[in-house]
Amino acid sequence: MLVLGIETSCDDTGVGLVQDGRVRVNLVASQTLLHAEYGGVVPELASREHTQVLDRLVARALEEAGVRPQALDLVAATRGPGLVGPLLVGLGYAKGLAWSLGKPFLGVHHLEGHLHGALASGEVEPPFLVLIASGGHTHLYRVEAWGRYQLLGATRDDAAGEAFDKVARTLGLGYPGGPEIERLAREGDAHAVPFSVPMRGRAGYDFSFSGLKTAAVRFKSEGYAPADIAAGFQRVAVASLVGTLERAARDTGVRRVVVAGGVAANRALRTALAATGLEVHLPPPGLTSDNGAMIALAAARRWAREGRADPITVSAEPYWPL
Ligand code: KG4
Ligand code: ZN
Repeated sequence: MLVLGIETSCDDTGVGLVQDGRVRVNLVASQTLLHAEYGGVVPELASREHTQVLDRLVARALEEAGVRPQALDLVAATRGPGLVGPLLVGLGYAKGLAWSLGKPFLGVHHLEGHLHGALASGEVEPPFLVLIASGGHTHLYRVEAWGRYQLLGATRDDAAGEAFDKVARTLGLGYPGGPEIERLAREGDAHAVPFSVPMRGRAGYDFSFSGLKTAAVRFKSEGYAPADIAAGFQRVAVASLVGTLERAARDTGVRRVVVAGGVAANRALRTALAATGLEVHLPPPGLTSDNGAMIALAAARRWAREGRADPITVSAEPYWPL
């Protein structure tokens, strides 16, 4: 079973090939430099760039795997949530390719993609909890069976990755901010700046990260060292994610957890998760950030379960609950 997965929900063009559950090729063309001068993703520029590179990236992926388009068994693309223009580029391309080859097409939920990216290195069966922390999402779900997601909590304002990006910008660091904060935090004292863990002591499993950004701006104006601000911010952001996850695990009795999304690359987060004693599953390198292989993996799973293609008429879903 050879599956092509295409991801264009934001500013990365991802093309992945998965064969019988194994990632064969996973190419990502990043647009980071294109958007850097604007301080954020410009949707129209992202759409144009996806249009420019997608066909070539698919051709390269097939070439690297040494397969012809006709060998594909299934073509999948992210259907949502995300930026509508970029989504339409990948979706339109995938539907056209599937139709012209006479192959089935599946439109995949971006978060289901992240989940399957995190599961790529091993077989994990429900029930489990999944925390998705990326630039656009901070969502905690309980998964009782494949395809059945119960939302336990979500961010009330900024996503976790977004907070890393905003604090990085406050400190004059580059984009994406996560890796930059992580690097600078190593040189700082995580307890030098009086950050407090957001939402601590509150009932429920929601998150809130926008206050940390405001606090970082204030601490900077008060003269705290950037490295100490980075380390302190990272400490409380990680404590919020891990603390909430631990509490949900305790309350539900589900001790198997999957952590996915770009923030799952963070070392401090991984160390804190390892210390919880929970059964933690994390994405392998290359599958944390947006990519095509995770979309192909999610599509392969749904195809195996349902064996039903999506109609060629499905459209992008910029706001699509899981
Ligand atoms: O999943 P992803 O690639 O794209 C979205 O769907 O948003 O996540 C990107 C986010 C960015 O906000 C980025 O700053 C964050 O993940 N990120 C990190 C790290 N690497 C990426 N955050 C914290 N630590 C990291 N090492
Ligand atoms: Zn993502």
